[in-house]
Amino acid sequence: MTAAVWTASVLTLFPEMFPGPLAASLAGRSLERGDWVLETVDIREFAGNKHRTVDDAPFGGGAGMVMKPDVIDAALTSVREKRAAAGAEDRLIYLTPRGRLLDQRLVGALSEASGVVLLCGRYEGVDQRVIEAHGMEEVSLGDFVLSGGEPAALALIDAVVRLLPGVMGNQESAEEESFGEPGLLEYPHYTRPAEWCGRDGVSRAVPEVLVSGDHARVRQWRRAEAERITRERRPDLWRRRPGREDET
Ligand SMILES: C[S@@+](CC[C@H](N)C(=O)[O-])C[C@H]1O[C@@H](n2cnc3c(N)ncnc32)[C@H](O)[C@@H]1O
Repeated sequence: MTAAVWTASVLTLFPEMFPGPLAASLAGRSLERGDWVLETVDIREFAGNKHRTVDDAPFGGGAGMVMKPDVIDAALTSVREKRAAAGAEDRLIYLTPRGRLLDQRLVGALSEASGVVLLCGRYEGVDQRVIEAHGMEEVSLGDFVLSGGEPAALALIDAVVRLLPGVMGNQESAEEESFGEPGLLEYPHYTRPAEWCGRDGVSRAVPEVLVSGDHARVRQWRRAEAERITRERRPDLWRRRPGREDET
């Protein structure tokens, strides 16, 4: 049995950062409607001593502090027990630059789970033993270092929530957009006016095919542009796209 409503449980030292931007627009409206649920857990509540200490110096020396395994374990166990009692089998994720890169395929898989438990690190990160003990997946937002896992959690939740049933009005747009089924970046977009002059004084018309009314030509042009842009900007994606054997 899985819990009915997709739930993000976020373990953080900064619960005031949530829902933050997730309270606005598509995510915010769907949160209000109850299409998904956000639970924030203040890690500090699980610090055993009166100073509510959550970190300690790293074994082996070096700069910075490390989040304590006993505190994180208590917070994780509490969330996991609550979610298990609701019948959920959530994905357990520690956000870290050392993790596998978040991509649209993983986002899609996460949207099909009952929910996610997201552990946000601070300082130098979390004692590795607690990550192992809970069998957590390690996921990175990108090849850069944030000061904490919270912005990564916000981005991950935003990306997942828009795929949940009923959240995005036009489901087709999720299938067609970048990293969708053909494995390409999306084609460029244009809207009115058809002719527009920017600050550089150059007048630019939208590509003629887009105002031709010929839907087959429009589809062809969009596909060709998506392929060109992917080839030029992301040769890694171009090489990995489905059906690549017909092209080099
Ligand atoms: C200052 S960072 C620690 C960086 C760590 N010492 C390292 O060099 O890999 C503090 C926390 O921010 C989060 N974080 C930083 N960069 C991230 C990224 N690219 N993706 C996901 N989380 C990240 C992690 O939770 C991490 O524990």
